[in-house]
Amino acid sequence: MTIHDAYFAQLQAALLEEGELRPRLIVDLDHNIDQAVAFAARAGKALRLVEKSLPSFELLDYIARRAGTRRLMSFHQPFLTLDARHWPDADILLGKPMPVALVERFYQSLTGDFEPQRQLQWLIDSPERLEQYLGLAQRLGLRLNVNLELDVGLHRGGVPQGRAGALMLSALLQRIAQHPQHLRFTGFMGYEPHVMMLPRLFGEPERLLAQAMATYQARVQQVQREAPALWAQALAADGQPPLTLNTAGSPTYRLHEQEQVSNELALGSGLLKPTHFDLPSLAGHLPALFIATPVLKTAGAFTLPGAGRLPALISRLAGRGKQALFIYGGNWLADPVSPVGLKASGLYGTSSNQQVLLAPAETALQVDDLVFLRPTQSEAVLLQFGDVLAVRAGRVVGRWPVFADA
Ligand SMILES: Cc1ncc(COP(=O)(O)O)c(C=O)c1O
Repeated sequence: MTIHDAYFAQLQAALLEEGELRPRLIVDLDHNIDQAVAFAARAGKALRLVEKSLPSFELLDYIARRAGTRRLMSFHQPFLTLDARHWPDADILLGKPMPVALVERFYQSLTGDFEPQRQLQWLIDSPERLEQYLGLAQRLGLRLNVNLELDVGLHRGGVPQGRAGALMLSALLQRIAQHPQHLRFTGFMGYEPHVMMLPRLFGEPERLLAQAMATYQARVQQVQREAPALWAQALAADGQPPLTLNTAGSPTYRLHEQEQVSNELALGSGLLKPTHFDLPSLAGHLPALFIATPVLKTAGAFTLPGAGRLPALISRLAGRGKQALFIYGGNWLADPVSPVGLKASGLYGTSSNQQVLLAPAETALQVDDLVFLRPTQSEAVLLQFGDVLAVRAGRVVGRWPVFADA
């Protein structure tokens, strides 16, 4: 009797052929990358890869080559340091503001050919942070590229919406203009996942996106009006990164075909499509991230620990039509996906060592068979399994180390 469909049966065969009998993370290549590349070409926008969601240098490099981009969005100073070391021609935008002490640490740990002045944009969310960065730039004799975080409706900080935002942006631009030897304006970052993630009660995605991009456009026009010299400098991009009007993320990138405000889209998790990204906007993407792990024990009927009638009764009720099995590892941010009907037990308690799962009684699972789970997200899960196994057309084609802190 088959326990997996054709896709997972082939994956199991490929992994067993490689002698893989410990928990492994699988990335299935190409389909989602090609979807994203085709979309970006249609929309006339560049793609920026979200490094925290794809935290393996080889994985990032593979995707970047296939997608024809050198743009990365970084979120963690140790990873930023690794990016700059491994990828001297990268164009890097920070996806969140870094404490100024970590900015200093980045410059201290910098080695190799990466040139921050030409290739790196720091994200600034407030006048206070700009002052801190200016102080550092003056002290270390650096020139820092400043990309300004916009609140386009997410309310996670940055230049706020409305009049308060207009005033803050004026102040930020003035300060940058006063210190050309230490600061350069290189663009905006306006992230808008709320457009897709909010309940429909709050508005249709198209309407929320139109509002977000109207805010974005007003900020662009404000720079053009109030600081034309800074705008011209950003456009000329002489010795500094090209003007970067960044927006989007996996949930929303496909909504940006028509708008003319942004010039690049950030994208990470959607290329792997963990379960949190099972969204209508990503219907064209396929699940491409799996945990494979062997069955260590088939335990037959589900039996809760403890003696007496009550555990026995609850076990019988909860385990009706099911068999219990113990897997190698567990307790991941993941949901079982194959064999069909495989589920975590809400009663037994979970374990990172040997988690119990329940399978339909008729599933002919044996010790050393593999079961598959789908992670709910990529960023934390990808770092938990050692090398990622890259798979193409059902074959293992690479073993790619994941980032460790630099
Ligand atoms: C600023 C920013 N841009 C884009 C993204 C999108 O990342 P992903 O495509 O992995 O969801 C994120 C995710 O946290 C983000 O914070």
